[in-house]
Amino acid sequence: MNNNIDISFKMKDLLFDNPIFTASGTFGFGHEFDDFIDISKIGGVVVKGLTLEPRKGNKLPRIAETASGMLNSVGLENPGVNKFIEETLPRLKEKKVKVIANIAGNTIDEYCKMAEIVNTSECDAVEMNISCPNVKQGGVAFGTNPDVVYEITKQVRACLDKPLIVKLSPNVTDIKEIAVKAEEGGADCISLINTLIGMAVDIKTKKPILNNVIGGLSGPAIKPVALRLIWETSKVVNIPIIGMGGVRSIEDVIEFMLVGASAVAIGTSNFVNPKVTVELVEELREYLKSNKYTSCKDIIGKLKLN
Ligand SMILES: Cc1cc2nc3c(=O)[nH]c(=O)nc-3n(C[C@H](O)[C@H](O)[C@H](O)COP(=O)(O)O)c2cc1C
Repeated sequence: MNNNIDISFKMKDLLFDNPIFTASGTFGFGHEFDDFIDISKIGGVVVKGLTLEPRKGNKLPRIAETASGMLNSVGLENPGVNKFIEETLPRLKEKKVKVIANIAGNTIDEYCKMAEIVNTSECDAVEMNISCPNVKQGGVAFGTNPDVVYEITKQVRACLDKPLIVKLSPNVTDIKEIAVKAEEGGADCISLINTLIGMAVDIKTKKPILNNVIGGLSGPAIKPVALRLIWETSKVVNIPIIGMGGVRSIEDVIEFMLVGASAVAIGTSNFVNPKVTVELVEELREYLKSNKYTSCKDIIGKLKLN
């Protein structure tokens, strides 16, 4: 046991035991991983993206493997926020894990309605996804316009007492401008990055592999982009950042913290190693101990520039 090592993570007044999260859409609703891990050991479970009404998602095929990552065009397949709260959330909360609802809508009004619903539930926090590349209406358009980011954050904030995380898209010209607007609008935390937009082609059929033609690229291929965007964002906001994008090892976690992430979410790696999240919690404690650090604060934002 490394009891003298503090790896807790605080967002607003909400304290997480550790800073390792799951990334939305890559951990289902948690129970899919019950055979592999004790999910109470994860800092927080960010559930699959929720919408107001149930969604079937996009047509198959909607997954393609790439050289060092994957493309997906799942398109927010989910049972709808109400069904999630009634049926899935109680089972998750029984496991004594902090649950973050990831919400997406087509209009600001829809986001607000969902925030109001989640606010009266047992969810611990909300992650507002304004960066999904796989839905035609709204989605990414919200996350690319700084004024809209301010407006949607402000309005959703007003519907919510729980901590609000705003999840940003990497598919923007200037992440700094967007992140500042999210903070000004009342975000308690920023999470980034969502997937990069990409495509894959089958040379036999001469067709795109994804039925949707384009999809979101995730996994190790996007890690350098994530590091750069987290580093740029950490320079301009005062709220914590949950970093994600290709994290699969303790070295990756430390790199993300050095550039300014206070917590790290694991996405595509869950498909490769379902135990990766809990392994990283232990490895983080060991890393801090063996380097004689007492807290993650000793490394967060401590990147040295020449
Ligand atoms: C299959 C799949 C589904 C995803 N669904 C969502 C989603 O519903 N909401 C969301 O905010 N992000 C979603 N994401 C994005 C991830 O949460 C994460 O931001 C991204 O994959 C980068 O992290 P990674 O490289 O560790 O996977 C999804 C990613 C994948 C691969």
